[in-house]
Amino acid sequence: MKQRKKTNLSIFVIVLSLFLVGIFMYNDNVKSIAFLTSSNPFYNLFEDGGDVELPPEECDLFTGKWVFDNKTHPLYKEEQCEFLTEQVTCLRNGRKDSLFQNWRWQPRDCSLPKFKARLLLEKLRNKRLMFVGDSLNRNQWESMVCLVQSVVPPGRKSLNQTGSLTIFQVQDYNATVEFYWAPFLVESNSDDPKKHSIIDRIIMPESIEKHGVNWKGVDFLIFNSYIWWMNTVSIKVLRGSFDEGDTEYDEIKRPIAYERMLRTLGDWVDHNIDPLRTTVFFMSMSPLHIKSLDWGNPEGIMCALETTPILNTSMTFNVGTDYRLYSEVGTDYRLFSVVENVTQSLKVPIHFLNITALSEYRKDAHTSVYTIRQGELLTREQQNDPANFADCIHWCLPGLPDTWNEFLYTHIISKSS
Ligand SMILES: *[C@@H]1O[C@H](CO)[C@@H](O)[C@H](O)[C@H]1NC(C)=O
Ligand SMILES: *[C@@H]1O[C@H](CO)[C@@H](O)[C@H](O)[C@H]1NC(C)=O
Ligand SMILES: *[C@@H]1O[C@H](CO)[C@@H](O)[C@H](O)[C@H]1NC(C)=O
Ligand SMILES: *[C@@H]1O[C@H](CO)[C@@H](O)[C@H](O)[C@H]1NC(C)=O
Ligand SMILES: *[C@@H]1O[C@H](CO)[C@@H](O)[C@H](O)[C@H]1NC(C)=O
Ligand SMILES: *[C@@H]1O[C@H](CO)[C@@H](O)[C@H](O)[C@H]1NC(C)=O
Repeated sequence: MKQRKKTNLSIFVIVLSLFLVGIFMYNDNVKSIAFLTSSNPFYNLFEDGGDVELPPEECDLFTGKWVFDNKTHPLYKEEQCEFLTEQVTCLRNGRKDSLFQNWRWQPRDCSLPKFKARLLLEKLRNKRLMFVGDSLNRNQWESMVCLVQSVVPPGRKSLNQTGSLTIFQVQDYNATVEFYWAPFLVESNSDDPKKHSIIDRIIMPESIEKHGVNWKGVDFLIFNSYIWWMNTVSIKVLRGSFDEGDTEYDEIKRPIAYERMLRTLGDWVDHNIDPLRTTVFFMSMSPLHIKSLDWGNPEGIMCALETTPILNTSMTFNVGTDYRLYSEVGTDYRLFSVVENVTQSLKVPIHFLNITALSEYRKDAHTSVYTIRQGELLTREQQNDPANFADCIHWCLPGLPDTWNEFLYTHIISKSS
């Protein structure tokens, strides 16, 4: 009797499979219809063929190497993503070499799962994902928008900026990929999303509520904050409040001020995040490549002439105790330790995405002179003067931030619900 039931079930599964195969052969669009949720066992089978293999949870994804792989990377084409801004479209802006798009991160002890936009969108169904931070996080947000938008038909996606918040929406999934501008995460005088070129940057390291109210109820929160702390050796901390019109400030050592900010963020997370609903990430620092001697190229001009990653992984960029302004590869590892320490001491877990070292190898991946300055594309003359005009902070897209998002993707699709 039991046996019979099983046989019937098998026949039913086979018939249903054939039926589904039939549908897929005749109508590709059916892939996006609602009943194909991730709880449906056929879902993964039918997306781009094959299942995704998740890495073991204990695998360290961040230790590994860059491998040239022009079969799978880039994950999208520059000209196929209408949402890319002029700041990052390096090829369109005149960059001649494109091999920087073809590097794939290969963890030492496992592999990253194949990127499947539909699978990610399925996980984001009825959910909000929000990047919070500075222009490097916006760089990563643009990458994420491009990664998911490729499978969404025209007219079924939209972009809307209101104040500090920019929302990319995918209608059919009721999913959003958002970016919120808050370069210090806590309140500062640089919080205007448009007019923030302020020489005297002043922060209120214990004040976060003004921004935080906009992060409540988001399902995936991805924070970063680093580059804005690197402008000066000490950080200006307001005495009092911007609301009261106060202007006096104290100057505080960078790591101390940074830790005060992170404790404020940690506190906010502990009091406002329901870990059953929301997953919180913190991106480690995105490195700069200002001094080509650091990677042994005396002929270099900052990052401007670089076309290949550093492949010698025994090279390290520990700058010791000399944390000068925008110098070296530019990484102040004291701030890295602060993030590591604080995120480990919270009630609500914050996933620390350790992208710093693997990004340090990517001296070839910056926007360099193929970008904008003050809203204008660099002129030919400016492009010919990289020593004064190269941007060795931001990254071309497609490019390195796609890899950062592959780590996020791995986390998100590994979550069961
Ligand atoms: C971060 O990753 C690098 C390799 O990319 C590794 O050497 C380092 O130990 C990692 N640090 C932490 C805190 O995980
Ligand atoms: C990929 O790279 C190989 C080796 O450099 C080259 O022979 C091949 O033409 C490249 N393929 C594409 C599609 O660019
Ligand atoms: C759409 O997504 C929002 C934000 O995640 C959620 O609050 C809302 O309930 C969703 N709508 C439906 C119809 O599920
Ligand atoms: C953008 O969002 C704002 C605030 O939610 C709304 O008032 C406006 O109509 C939206 N604009 C578009 C083009 O969707
Ligand atoms: C790799 O880097 C290390 C440390 O800088 C250096 O000693 C070694 O010679 C380099 N290896 C190669 C093959 O360049
Ligand atoms: C991080 O914690 C370790 C161990 O508690 C400590 O030695 C180190 O000084 C801390 N670093 C920072 C930057 O707080």
